[in-house]
Amino acid sequence: MTKYRASITGIHSWVPKDILTNAELEKMVDTTDEWIISRTGIKERRILKGDGAGTSVIGTEAVKGLLEKTGTRPEEVDLLICATVTPDMQFPATANIISHECGIRNAFSFDINAACSGFLYALVTASKFIQSGSHKKVIVVGADKMSSIVDYTDRSTCIIFGDGGGAVLLEPTDDSFGIMDSIMHSDGGGMIHLHQKAGGSKNPASQTTVDAREHYIYQEGQAVFKFAVTNMADVAGSIMDKNNLKSENIAWLVPHQANMRIIDATARRMGIAKEKVMINIERYGNTTNGTLPLCLSEWENQLHKGDNLILAAFGGGFTWGSIWLKWGYDPK
Ligand code: UT7
Repeated sequence: MTKYRASITGIHSWVPKDILTNAELEKMVDTTDEWIISRTGIKERRILKGDGAGTSVIGTEAVKGLLEKTGTRPEEVDLLICATVTPDMQFPATANIISHECGIRNAFSFDINAACSGFLYALVTASKFIQSGSHKKVIVVGADKMSSIVDYTDRSTCIIFGDGGGAVLLEPTDDSFGIMDSIMHSDGGGMIHLHQKAGGSKNPASQTTVDAREHYIYQEGQAVFKFAVTNMADVAGSIMDKNNLKSENIAWLVPHQANMRIIDATARRMGIAKEKVMINIERYGNTTNGTLPLCLSEWENQLHKGDNLILAAFGGGFTWGSIWLKWGYDPK
């Protein structure tokens, strides 16, 4: 029996045009450009503006560009998964809305919510459909409109997050490229440190929850930082050890862009030089599910067939994980 792997055969990303700089944040909360850069590495982030513009706008732009770039007809796509924590609505799934907007009619579509690790969870899920032989053209979207759940009076969170995302096309390959291995984790005990207090079934929206600002991100920054720094570095190291990969075998580390200090710690643990780490946090901040496809897309022209990439993320839940993938094509 032929063994299939899921290989990324195309990528496209999209960010809104409006920029929120550190200088503007200095006017909104008690902070400084110097503090933000030294504690996080972020200089600016993108904000999606416009009435009724939700995460599906980002996903739709990314998928339309991806279809065009890869010469894929919408009706050829047989599965679309969207990783997001800021769905347009509680239901239906944002993936369905994106499929509809893109004319993808022969696919089934669903969302995955694993906070900042969602793109990795979605890639692993998609790869199983391809490995089984049941699906041949699968799109994975990672997108978030974080500005819709950020409290712009809270200086410890509003400086971090931004809006944006991207999409990849996955197709079967029977040679040795694509998603080679993954290690995924979750720990619900981490919920207390990072969550959205209201708006779900436990604590539905009411005047009281709105007045108490409970529809925004609640994050205990230092606690999350400690878990993130340890677990993201460890899981990236573990996938290398498990597959006998040495730092000289790795072409690129593709880390979730939450904080420059977490990225540095992960690269150090893997013994990887900074020149081999994809970093664009200074321009986009933390776009949650958008960070990894935004990096891959921006570095696409530097990637070559057979390059070993390690993707790693940590996020709310807690969730964290790492994927080893062999890039499937040369720059076009
Ligand atoms: O992607 C999902 C997972 N999330 C993460 O990985 C985020 C992890 N956490 C972080 O990145 C960092 O914890 C933050 C960037 C959120 C905060 O940085 P920190 O170095 O951990 O700061 P802190 O929370 O320990 O606060 C240190 C001080 C406090 O003042 P006092 O109590 O020492 O007087 C804060 O009030 O810095 C203060 N502070 C600020 N000062 C200026 C917090 N935010 C700001 C700010 N500007 N924006």
